[in-house]
Amino acid sequence: MQKRKRSHNMETLKILTYPDKFLSEPTKPVENIDEKIRNLIKDMASIMYQAPGIGLAAIQVGINKSLLIYDVSPKDEKRALQVLINPRIIESEGTTISEDEGCLSVPDFRANVKRAASVLVEGFDSKEKPLRIEAEGLLSVVLQHEIDHLNGILFIDRISSLKREMYKRCVKKNLKNR
Ligand code: NI
Repeated sequence: MQKRKRSHNMETLKILTYPDKFLSEPTKPVENIDEKIRNLIKDMASIMYQAPGIGLAAIQVGINKSLLIYDVSPKDEKRALQVLINPRIIESEGTTISEDEGCLSVPDFRANVKRAASVLVEGFDSKEKPLRIEAEGLLSVVLQHEIDHLNGILFIDRISSLKREMYKRCVKKNLKNR
């Protein structure tokens, strides 16, 4: 039997990287969690695990919807994919330095980023069930990082301008030498 056509072609989904302008676009809320969205989640999950990464926002694969996935389970444990749709940070408390933060859209670069120590996030899962997540530690950082993506913000927008310029110069040089 012929496979049902997907709304997007898996082969066309790839991770966009800085300086792609699309990454700085704000995203639109997901209105219906339909088959299209569920297929997108599946494809995003295989891209994230393959990368490998611990979080991925739809905008990073060129879909400007308010949707992200993450999996912060330890490497030696079973995968535990989490889906968060239309998330909002309701409360944030304290500050922490997230050490050596990285991003699949900002390859070959890591930096320390100032983040809230803990956050309260609300959103929906893939079955439209409302979620309320109180997070600290790694999960808190991942949620802040991915929700930033949904607002067109990259972690390099949150580091010192000196470091950011260093990275930008490096990217420009590499693009020229390609
Ligand atoms: Ni990222």
